[in-house]
Amino acid sequence: MESESRQAHWQNVYTNKGENDVSWFQENPAPSLELIDRMGATPASAIVDIGGGASRLVDNLVAKGFQDIAVLDFSAAALDAARARLGAKAGKVTWIVADVTLWEPSRTYDIWHDRAAFHFLTDPNDRGAYVARLKRALKVGGHAIIATFAPDGPERCSGLPVVRYDAASLGRALGPDFGLVEALRHAHATPWGSQQAFQFSVFRREG
Ligand SMILES: C[S@@+](CC[C@H](N)C(=O)[O-])C[C@H]1O[C@@H](n2cnc3c(N)ncnc32)[C@H](O)[C@@H]1O
Repeated sequence: MESESRQAHWQNVYTNKGENDVSWFQENPAPSLELIDRMGATPASAIVDIGGGASRLVDNLVAKGFQDIAVLDFSAAALDAARARLGAKAGKVTWIVADVTLWEPSRTYDIWHDRAAFHFLTDPNDRGAYVARLKRALKVGGHAIIATFAPDGPERCSGLPVVRYDAASLGRALGPDFGLVEALRHAHATPWGSQQAFQFSVFRREG
């Protein structure tokens, strides 16, 4: 699928569906917050949430006092929803409407967080473009926290095919500049009570 059609897909999802209508909704993004904490992040750490959508991760980071947060997503409607929820606090966040595979990062971050965006990249060229952005945007010594569906997780999400990963296969997709630091499985409960097997993998940018 071309970038424009994928963007239209996500814009349509966030325009027509509420939080409780999407399988990935999480009231409390606890696994992400725990991993961000365990990687030694402080309120001064720069964090970018890739494919952040309307996630509540940003609300939690703002509440914890993080001062340098960016949320990037294909869908302006998703970011508008998050912005509206945050109210005046939305001004503390940088909102970026972009396709991560085409994004031109203009600065670097300590933490790259991605929950359920990378796994939609089924074309190797798109994965290569993602990794190129990751290398440009993540500081050496910084951490990439990437959550995908696990090998026994669903084959599709939001009607689109996904690639499922364990930590080793994700490491191969990222290449030798990233060293695995931590891997954990997480059973996500959808708003309608089914379970999805997620894999959270954390990599340190070595070079
Ligand atoms: C399953 S949702 C997860 C949203 C959010 N990370 C969360 O945990 O609630 C996937 C998100 O990735 C975004 N996305 C998918 N492909 C993208 C791309 N190539 N560039 C930017 N965002 C993308 C979608 O717009 C959507 O918000």
